[in-house]
Amino acid sequence: MNSSSLVSISDISKEEILSLLNQARYFEENPNHKILDGKVIATLFFEPSTRTRLSFETAVNRLGGRIIGFSDASTTSSSKGETLKDTIKMVSNYVDLIIMRHYLEGAARYASEVTDTPVINAGDGANQHPSQTMLDLYSIYKTQGTLDNLTITMVGDLKYGRTVHSLLMAMQYFNPTFRFVACDELKMPAEYKDFCDKNGIKYTEHKEFSAEVINSSDIIYMTRVQRERFTDIMEYERVKNLYTLHNAMLDGSRDNLRILHPLPRVNEIDYDVDDNPKAYYFQQAQNGLYARQAIICKALGIDINKEDK
Ligand code: CP
Repeated sequence: MNSSSLVSISDISKEEILSLLNQARYFEENPNHKILDGKVIATLFFEPSTRTRLSFETAVNRLGGRIIGFSDASTTSSSKGETLKDTIKMVSNYVDLIIMRHYLEGAARYASEVTDTPVINAGDGANQHPSQTMLDLYSIYKTQGTLDNLTITMVGDLKYGRTVHSLLMAMQYFNPTFRFVACDELKMPAEYKDFCDKNGIKYTEHKEFSAEVINSSDIIYMTRVQRERFTDIMEYERVKNLYTLHNAMLDGSRDNLRILHPLPRVNEIDYDVDDNPKAYYFQQAQNGLYARQAIICKALGIDINKEDK
């Protein structure tokens, strides 16, 4: 495995996270910085995406690199039975960096182990989404002025939502208090609660998305119920409408509260929240461009501090 790969948020240290956030801020101020001249990057998306793929590709374009890849694996030889291993080995012949989304948990780790080319995990099943976590951390830092000592409420599909799993792990360095709001079927998996216990992270679990929970939060992180991960569609039908945030529910919330959502949303956030200054999910997605510019540079070993800024 190439040590520059980013497969899980646990692959990088607190110092590396803080350095990436610093670089994201640099790219927000200087989005067009042509430091990838001659580099070719592959985006291999075995699962649908809007934000992750397009922001990664925009990041490469703004940095002066070139992109190859696919957004629909049915147009590739994997539809003829080519294995993931062979696909990765082939693409590695052509590019300097692979950015991959896959529906199987562990696929990104596996890909990183069959090639020396660095791999960035753009989401693997219900497991991890580390580049989303970097943009989430950047968004939290920008809106709160700190990452330390915040109360973060995660709402909805905490079982299959890979973004909350990655974010929970990254926050281990910053003394968070978590509130997990979910029904029994979609509650935070035991392994992540064990992670909190082992790392001294405080959390409480709630079935009700109550005023008390909302009014004591610095960040509310809404999530979509991940229909594509259910094996029993009737179970999805039972749980899909349990938690929706409406504007009136924010009346007693803290001034510094911001609403995050990795997007896409279905019905978790009513449109009447969009004009509330506490709604931050579209800016959050924009921050993805800068965070991903920083991640790409790190994976390629490009130190922007040593480049001619
Ligand atoms: N947040 C996120 O991963 O969005 P996409 O599925 O559109 O990439």
